[in-house]
Amino acid sequence: MNNAPIGVFDSGIGGLTIVKAIQKYLPNESIIYFGDTAHLPYGDKSPELIQKYAANIAYFLVQQKVKLIVIACNTASAVALDIVQKIAGNIPVINVIDPAVKMALENTLNYRIGIIGTKTTIQSRVYPIKIKQKRPKCYVTAKATPLLAPMIEEGWANSQISDEIIEAYLSETTFETIDTLILGCTHYPLIKENITKYFESKVNVIDSAEAVSIEIKNLLDEKKLFSDQYNIPRHIFYVSDLTESFQQTTQIFLDTPVQLQERKWVENI
Ligand code: DGL
Repeated sequence: MNNAPIGVFDSGIGGLTIVKAIQKYLPNESIIYFGDTAHLPYGDKSPELIQKYAANIAYFLVQQKVKLIVIACNTASAVALDIVQKIAGNIPVINVIDPAVKMALENTLNYRIGIIGTKTTIQSRVYPIKIKQKRPKCYVTAKATPLLAPMIEEGWANSQISDEIIEAYLSETTFETIDTLILGCTHYPLIKENITKYFESKVNVIDSAEAVSIEIKNLLDEKKLFSDQYNIPRHIFYVSDLTESFQQTTQIFLDTPVQLQERKWVENI
């Protein structure tokens, strides 16, 4: 069981930022990735539809005998955690929101935290709810920033275009007093530097890819599920719709491009 893969899923290719962080922190672990490119983007879809997609992907990953399921997608973590946990049964499930909330609360000094993410993630209010459950006095300001993900996929991270879009979103007065900002979307680790620069390094920018990898490491340690040191890790990358464009986008998110394999969408649930 220990050498079984970690199952990671996302609405598309952006979740490779989580894979990259897992590979960095846990180089012995095998990964089965599922990107639901047939239904991308999740960011403005209804919770009901995302729950249906996530449930089917969780079912697939359970069939693949993964030892852990990581919901790399913020939007799916926001609205489909319960259904994924139900389908996973005894297999532990990690979402990207709780580790980022924990890290933000460890970093903030003035308890003013900002969050950016997709429309569905922000509308779910899951971040403010989870933050306030832990620190009721925290002031949370959340904003949907839907242009950022397609902009990054276009290869425009760290450019004048990204600087201008970031400024347009973050120049609101509510962001003026925050000392911590959660990047609540798979894609945003790629613009962490832009955002840090925008706030003149005065704001802690929380990258959920890093936060979730630490959480995965702790969980594998606690459950004694680390792969053995001689395991030769094997990574498989499935997508529900394979196009040249998705294949090329992998290069944006991972240093070394990976070969995607198509696994046509099957509805079991
Ligand atoms: N993966 C999504 C997220 O982290 C962003 C892309 C999408 O909207 O599907 O919220």
